[in-house]
Amino acid sequence: KYQAVIFDLDGVITDTAHYHYLAWKRLAESQGIPFDEAFNEELKGVDRMGSLALILARGSRSYTQEEKLALADAKNRHYQELIATMTPQDLLPGALEALEAVRAAGLKTGLASVSKNAFTVLDRLGIRERFDTVVDAARIANSKPHPEIFLTAAAQLGLAPRDCLGVEDAVAGVASIKDAGMVAVGVGSPEVLRRADYVIPSMREFRLGDY
Ligand code: G6P
Ligand code: MG
Repeated sequence: KYQAVIFDLDGVITDTAHYHYLAWKRLAESQGIPFDEAFNEELKGVDRMGSLALILARGSRSYTQEEKLALADAKNRHYQELIATMTPQDLLPGALEALEAVRAAGLKTGLASVSKNAFTVLDRLGIRERFDTVVDAARIANSKPHPEIFLTAAAQLGLAPRDCLGVEDAVAGVASIKDAGMVAVGVGSPEVLRRADYVIPSMREFRLGDY
């Protein structure tokens, strides 16, 4: 039925979504801006400067471009400290099995992440070779929720969007998949991932034949 499965990275393949959360939380609180898990859902899948803009919009003062770049850089340095010790043990349960099952079924594998740290994370996990194509921040002009990143992944695989299944943990990511014209599997809660065609609680429950 499908010819490829295109996976998000942070929060689907590995728990870096939690590291992004910790780093943004410290950054927000350093500016006196409240930060919690519910607001964090709006940031998932959104690129670095876009996330910062959403956070600072909740504060009471305005920031110069220079200040914004310094804050984004501070967040990224903290995030890079958090991912520095990652190993293949940090693959989420079920993620490797899902990648293997997709290829075993004769389908291609793709990765769609707006993170500028995506290749670092893939290398720390030792899984770069498990993807037939990777689209990261360097290849796209528009962050999720824009469909560009999933459309680019399909194009790089030489496939039509309708032949691809997308897998995402973020509201913005599911929107990107759906607006690209693909079927979306959400990983997380159905109350949060409302636009997903299917929702599984974790990658442990990923079954290609179910979608
Ligand atoms: C992914 C994550 C976001 C993160 C974004 C940019 O989409 O889900 O939480 O903000 O990448 O990551 P970066 O590593 O470039 O700051
Ligand atoms: Mg994600």
